[in-house]
Amino acid sequence: MELKLDYGEGIDSWKEVTLIYNAALRQVETKMAILNDEFQHVHQYNPIEHIKARIKTPESIVKKLKRNGYESTIDNMVKYINDIAGIRIICSFTSDIYRIAEMISEQRDIKVIGVKDYITYPKASGYKSYHMIVTVPVYLSDRIVDTKVEIQIRTVAMDFWASLEHKIHYKFEGDAPEHIRTELVECAKMVSDLDARMLSLNEEILAISKSNELEQEKKAIGL
Ligand code: GTP
Ligand code: MG
Repeated sequence: MELKLDYGEGIDSWKEVTLIYNAALRQVETKMAILNDEFQHVHQYNPIEHIKARIKTPESIVKKLKRNGYESTIDNMVKYINDIAGIRIICSFTSDIYRIAEMISEQRDIKVIGVKDYITYPKASGYKSYHMIVTVPVYLSDRIVDTKVEIQIRTVAMDFWASLEHKIHYKFEGDAPEHIRTELVECAKMVSDLDARMLSLNEEILAISKSNELEQEKKAIGL
């Protein structure tokens, strides 16, 4: 018989938490790899460039709990911290992002509990990415634990921008000089422009390949 537990219940040690979140992360990573393979098989194209996965360090979990006014307990972290397990999916084109997000939502055992579309609605900093908080069932020997995973989906260019912005944010402890912030917003605009131009170039290339294929097929059957 299946016993379904809510977050927190039955998880009583840091070791167990780590084990469960690691399992959830591996599950999502495998799912992504399978979707990518299938996509390659059907469309002869990989939407995913690469994937990064990480478990939040205990220090940064405690810091985040404190920042949000919660005591550092296992229950609180499981309940209030959505990004203990985090996975970042990097793709080539903006269109891939929505394609991947849709494929994730359609997985029967994945439950989407929240979405933030910073691509349609970028942050004031210029940050762009598509965020999903999902749960995946982790099957232990005696129970199933629905476990939260934060999925960030972005293009290579958006990832390049976000890495540098993150470094700057850290360096200045969130208080970067005005000219650097302005420059970052400018760069974010260039990233959006680059992404749009690369996408339209790719679409053009695809259209040419398709029409060439059609010509060859016509020739082959003597038309
Ligand atoms: P956190 O408390 O930072 O996790 O943010 P949140 O719970 O309000 O969620 P949000 O979706 O805004 O951010 C989640 C994660 O997205 C962050 O932990 C970062 O990894 C990333 N992120 C969000 N905003 C920015 C940004 O302005 N710059 C960069 N570089 N990363 C960002
Ligand atoms: Mg975070």
